Amino acid sequence: MMVEAAGLRRVLSVASECVPLIKTGGLADIAGALPSAMAAQGWDMRVLMPAYPGMLDRIAEAAEVWSHPDLFGGPARILAGMAGTAPAEVPMLLLDAPHLFDRPGGPYLGTDGRDHPDNPERFAALSWVAAEIAAEGLSDGWRPELVHAHDWQGALAPVYLRYRGIACASVLTIHNIAFQGLTGAHRLHGLRLPEQAFWDGTLEYYGQISMLKAGLIAADRITTVSPNYARELLRPDFGMGLEGVIASRAGAMVGILNGIDTQVWNPEADPRIIPFNARTLKLKAQNRDRLREDFGLTHVPGPLAVVVSRMSWQKGLDLLPEVVDGFVARGGGLAVLGAGDAAISVALAGVVARYPGRVALRTGYDETLPHRMFAGGDAVLVPSRFEPCGLTQMYGLRYGAVPVVSAVGGLADTVIHANRVALDAGCATGVVFPQVDATGLSQALDQLCDLYAEPAVFRAMQRAGMKQDMGWRRSAAAYARLYEDIAR
Ligand code: ADP
Ligand code: GLC
Repeated sequence: MMVEAAGLRRVLSVASECVPLIKTGGLADIAGALPSAMAAQGWDMRVLMPAYPGMLDRIAEAAEVWSHPDLFGGPARILAGMAGTAPAEVPMLLLDAPHLFDRPGGPYLGTDGRDHPDNPERFAALSWVAAEIAAEGLSDGWRPELVHAHDWQGALAPVYLRYRGIACASVLTIHNIAFQGLTGAHRLHGLRLPEQAFWDGTLEYYGQISMLKAGLIAADRITTVSPNYARELLRPDFGMGLEGVIASRAGAMVGILNGIDTQVWNPEADPRIIPFNARTLKLKAQNRDRLREDFGLTHVPGPLAVVVSRMSWQKGLDLLPEVVDGFVARGGGLAVLGAGDAAISVALAGVVARYPGRVALRTGYDETLPHRMFAGGDAVLVPSRFEPCGLTQMYGLRYGAVPVVSAVGGLADTVIHANRVALDAGCATGVVFPQVDATGLSQALDQLCDLYAEPAVFRAMQRAGMKQDMGWRRSAAAYARLYEDIAR
């Protein structure tokens, strides 16, 4: 559907990571998939992100469309081009500013595992450039009518728009309120913002600067990545100090569930697995055997559960060592792929040593393995303490790996708990547990084992999950309504 006469059509999305160029978490999946879904609906989308090392070679027919002699301490330019392959191509604007982005380490952390010390300036510069493009346009004549910023790294874009008096609408999406872009007030001038922005309460957060708070105040609209997380954010236990700010902007806020890229995550046509669909579910057994080989799991008589996750307190993986004995005793097996917190990997490595052949761990980042894990796994575990949306439970649903999830955020919005009524109605898709601790998780794993022991019931759940519509159509329509609404 082409958008006609909506007024506003050109949208600049601003993100610190974006598939297919770089990913550390779900933000990148969404930063890539949402613009391509919106473009398919007729919106003129471009994505502004930093050119990290090696990235400039990865966009096709790059053309310089903007330059600046002094972007926060050094020269910068923007190269425009397409990333990825049709139909999931993303029109990219890569911000090439070597003094800010061309350095060893990841997008946020240095090789020593600590934040790059100038992260506030690096991402302020990204946001400043977004506002500059909105003010002046690019050399090819393109100028956005709306800036859609993601997380704290893009959050200053609406703030620059406001204090520079640039007429351009703005949306800020919260993917995770745990990351707030906090920094000392002494950096105010380095961020190229007027003192007024601090004293009027926009930037100021308990004497410091919060880049996310400032964006929440300045943006025309705020979205977050599930309706349930939008409600949770109003509570002190989820709002992480910003619940008051969120409450003050409640009228401008909406929760829109993320979709997944159903072409990349399509069990019927995934080159990394033995393809299958809801009618040929028995082929999952072959994928399961391959997965056991991949992880060196010898014999798993019960459900084989997988985890693909950042290792952090958020994800609740520290609960696994406490519950694994009971799960293994009931025949379960576990394959974990994770990167992050070393203490969590050390604890999990201890479990692997106790149950070789039944529990296995891979640390690091791997693009292929998750596909094989969801295809081969009977279940996917996501015991998060909070989860704005969560993507791996959706990948699991699509690949017939039954999700076992805590009842938070987008997990509760995407998985239907296997209670008696839902099972009888044929709509149950997983196990949703309310109590996020070892007792809650171990009860959930017990229920998983009970369900797995009834093959017909378990297959019905797998099929119900595989049929669920998780593509972008509905969510893209919700974003379109939002964009159109701001234009009015
Ligand atoms: P978050 O963004 O909080 O990390 P999500 O569930 O939204 O959580 O997204 C995580 C994304 O990163 C998913 O696409 C998941 O498959 C991927 N992922 C997480 N850990 C790894 C890893 N170690 N290797 C490869 N992909 C990973
Ligand atoms: C964040 C959240 C995750 C969400 C992702 C994409 O990283 O932790 O729950 O799925 O962003 O929106």
